[in-house]
Order: sequence, then structure tokens, then C-alpha cells
Amino acid sequence: MDLSVEYLGHKLKNPIIVGSCGLTSSVSKLKSLEKAGAAAVVLKSLFEEQIDQEYWQEQSKNTFDFPDVANYINAYSNDKSFEKYLDLIKSAKENISIPVFASINCHSAGNWIDYAKKMEEAGADAIELNVSLLPNDFDATSADNEKFYFEITKKVKKAVSIPVALKMSSYSAGLAKLIKELSWTKNVDSFVLFNRYFRPDIDLDTLELKSGGLLSNSGDLAESLRWVLLLSKTVKTDIIGNTGIHTGKDVVKQILAGAKAVQVVSAIYINGEEHITGMLKEIEDWMESKKFNSLDDFRGTLHKKEELKKGFERIQFMKYYGSIE
Ligand SMILES: Cc1cc2nc3c(=O)[nH]c(=O)nc-3n(C[C@H](O)[C@H](O)[C@H](O)COP(=O)(O)O)c2cc1C
Repeated sequence: MDLSVEYLGHKLKNPIIVGSCGLTSSVSKLKSLEKAGAAAVVLKSLFEEQIDQEYWQEQSKNTFDFPDVANYINAYSNDKSFEKYLDLIKSAKENISIPVFASINCHSAGNWIDYAKKMEEAGADAIELNVSLLPNDFDATSADNEKFYFEITKKVKKAVSIPVALKMSSYSAGLAKLIKELSWTKNVDSFVLFNRYFRPDIDLDTLELKSGGLLSNSGDLAESLRWVLLLSKTVKTDIIGNTGIHTGKDVVKQILAGAKAVQVVSAIYINGEEHITGMLKEIEDWMESKKFNSLDDFRGTLHKKEELKKGFERIQFMKYYGSIE
């Protein structure tokens, strides 16, 4: 049974990539993930502000005339997160043999972009950009918000020669057009659908902010599955399913919908890394039952099922809502 897949210029042994999270922040954890069967890893994200510290440190070397400024900048930027991140990339590449993708959490096309090159030099096999934008500015049109995706990916693609993946938010009034047009720019080598943002909740005793739950469940699969199915035939760039993928069967659904591969996080937090081994077995069992030998044998076959596709296009479904009293 061949589970391999070509993704971002690499041959992955199977379609399960471990997404960016705390589980991908140290070499010992990365080794366990590789041992359990992960085909690639996306390292825990570095925030653009952490990279900017490096930029300001460089600038401070030229501010000898203003020692106060230099001191301030050095004090602000002494946690060396960027250097530590480069060390993580280097040591991941030395210790595991699956592809290692660096991840940057960004919201502007600022100075940090030049430093993406250093991640490439440290050995990153690709860069995944997690563009975090909440469209809550009352004065910004959707075009204002969406222009950042174009600016950031254009500049990063120019700065590096490794592939660039874009982890998308589902917050866009014109999501299909946005992804289609981003795909045309050729500045994005893969779209990851979708990021799962911090979910705010309220503690009713203290009236303080609390987390509404970091981890997903299988019920959260629907949104990503819907968009993978709706976009993957028209958009020629690779699409990765992410969010709510908890079982091997969830992976199969994403491939049937047209995903190139998937990213998994919560299921590994909940069940441990050996869960990956079980998911792979489940994929193989399903393929065997259907007599498929490779993922290409069934990737995107749901596109031929017109009635099913129409169901994924509906957000009001009388058949399901109307019958419940
Ligand atoms: C504890 C935790 C930490 C995460 N940290 C990051 C991060 O640093 N960068 C990022 O792009 N996504 C991060 N994510 C989001 C995951 O990569 C993933 O997109 C999300 O959890 C949805 O996948 P899942 O349903 O398999 O959990 C994090 C998720 C969790 C649960």
C-alpha cells in the first residue's frame, strides 16, 4: 500500500503532517513524532515580533551615538528567540530525517521578512506563514484586509527560495476568490485550511477572560472539509486539510475531498503521538477495503459526486434542520 505524497518539493511517506504547536517545539518531541509515523513536522511558530527583535538588535549596532537607545533595544531583545529558533531548525535537521517546516505567525509585511532567509539557511525545508488577521476594523474593507496576504506572500517568496505555505483564516467574505487569486500569484505553494484561533470565553465568577478550549474534536472537521472540497478542483495549488482531523477516517475524507495531505495537532495532544500509527493503520484498512493502492487512486473523487457537492454548498439545510422539533 503506497501512502506517499509529494508536498512542497518533498516526498512524504504518508499524508500525516504534525501541525505547528508545542509538540513540535523540541527535538526530543520531534523524534517521538517521527518514530510514531509522522511524515513531516511544522515547528511551533515564531511571532513576527520575535523576529523583529533581531532586526532591532542589528539596528542598535549603528546607534553608538545614542547609548540610551541602544541599551533599550538590547534590553528589549535579549530573549534571543530568533537565534533559539534557528538552533531548533538546525538541530531538528540533524536529528530527524522527515521534512521540517518553519512557521511564522505574522500580520504585516514588515522588516521581519528579510530574516525568513536565515530560516532557510538554517535548513528549513519550507516556511509556513500563519497570517493572523481578525477583520474587526470598522474602517477596513475586505480588500484592505486581504491585501496583507498578497503583500506578505510576495515579499517572503522573493526573500527565500524554499516553498512557502500559507495557513489561512476562514474569516473572509470572499474566501474562494481570495484563495484563487493568491494561487494565481504563484507566491503560495500550498494553502493550509484552516488555522484554529484562540477561542475567547468568559469566567462567570470573575468576569475575566478564559480560554474556550484549545483542542478541537472530530465535529470541528466540517468547516475545513467543506472548503477543501469546494476549492480543490478549481485551485491548482496544493491544499492541506487542517482542524478537527482526529482519526484515519477523517484523513480519508479530506483526501476524498481533494486535500493533498493533512495536518494534525489536537488528536495527538489527546491520545499521544502513537495515535499517528493507529491513524495510518486505519487509512490502510479503508484503502484495502476499497481496493485502492495509492492516495492518488481516490484523491478528489468526491468532485464527481454532484449531489454530495451541492450538500457541501448549502449552509441552510431544511432536510436536517426542518425535521427536528
Ligand atoms: C496547544 C496548541 C498550540 C498551537 N500553536 C500554534 C502555533 O504556534 N502556530 C500555528 O500556526 N498554529 C498553532 N496551533 C494550531 C494548530 O497548528 C492547528 O492549526 C489547530 O490546532 C487545528 O488542528 P487540530 O484540529 O488538529 O488541533 C496550536 C494549537 C494548539 C492546540
